[in-house]
Amino acid sequence: MTISSNPTASLVVVVGSTGKQGGSVIQALAESDKEYRIRGLTRDVSKPQAQRIATQGVEMVNVNLTADNADAAEAAFKGASIAFIVTNFWEHLDKAREVAEGKMLVAAAKAAEVELVVWSGVESVVEVSQGKYTHITAYARKSGVQLLIVQAAVYASNYHSAFALKKEADGTYTLGLPVGPSTVVPIIDVVHDYGLFVREGIESPEFGAGTEVLASGEDISVAEMAAQLGTITGKKVVYKQVSDEQYMAATRAPHHVALELLEMWKYFEEFRYFGDKDTHPSRQHLNRSPRTWADFVRAADWSSILV
Ligand SMILES: NC(=O)c1ccc[n+]([C@@H]2O[C@H](COP(=O)([O-])OP(=O)(O)OC[C@H]3O[C@@H](n4cnc5c(N)ncnc54)[C@H](OP(=O)(O)O)[C@@H]3O)[C@@H](O)[C@H]2O)c1
Repeated sequence: MTISSNPTASLVVVVGSTGKQGGSVIQALAESDKEYRIRGLTRDVSKPQAQRIATQGVEMVNVNLTADNADAAEAAFKGASIAFIVTNFWEHLDKAREVAEGKMLVAAAKAAEVELVVWSGVESVVEVSQGKYTHITAYARKSGVQLLIVQAAVYASNYHSAFALKKEADGTYTLGLPVGPSTVVPIIDVVHDYGLFVREGIESPEFGAGTEVLASGEDISVAEMAAQLGTITGKKVVYKQVSDEQYMAATRAPHHVALELLEMWKYFEEFRYFGDKDTHPSRQHLNRSPRTWADFVRAADWSSILV
């Protein structure tokens, strides 16, 4: 199926359309046998990625979704049955700004009378994120919008980098994190699979408004990730628990961000990424299987990373 131009088809407005999550949502809805019109939001419709998406039949719209631009956001959501909303912490590293923008997006979707708001927020990291997601989620719940939450697991692509895999003097590669080797995380190939879970959340009668989907391909320990990476690529890859100081220094991020990442890992080790929630039910009604870590490793090119 392709993206529809039929005015009677449901209109889905996608925030972050040129990004990993939003792009994946567009792809998954384009593959659906249901008919959707799609409007993708971006700050620059002229950039190549936006133009490429437009050639698929997506209506690309210019809008800067900052907190002071609520009227433009509302106009961008106008006519939508469904709005997919994601915030973008890593571009500005400012939690207060992220919360303000998240709330603005929910309020704008409500003002535009969107029927279903799909919000990408990871609630379990509340303790360490000082409530940034919970803040937006609580606001969205109270706002009265019909809310579907699709939480993204840890991106497998975070580890597809020379930065995450350190080459030691003896040629071994180490995956170094500040947690014990048996620490389990849910993993997702976000570009390939995140939209699959959003589609499930929208289309499956098991989900919909008032529910939550946990988007992950599998739960896997960090030691097992290193072991599988080594086996599949034929390189020597080992897991190494590094000290908190080593980890913070290695992130090369501003101190407050490095500290947040460190605390996040400690939280995952103690409470798990999704807390007590079971990821399996969210994989039961997908249109195809999501990638496991091993599937992701096989599909990726490691030649410039494990050289
Ligand atoms: N890394 C992980 O393991 C992980 C796991 C779970 C959740 N997350 C969360 O996922 C979120 C990021 O999603 P992503 O990976 O899809 O991000 P991404 O690939 O970096 O894409 C960001 C998108 O946001 C758009 N955008 C940014 N600022 C905008 C603005 N002011 N107005 C309009 N559009 C704007 C960008 O559009 P243009 O540039 O085209 O304007 C782009 O499409 C973060 O909040 C992160 O915390 C990450």
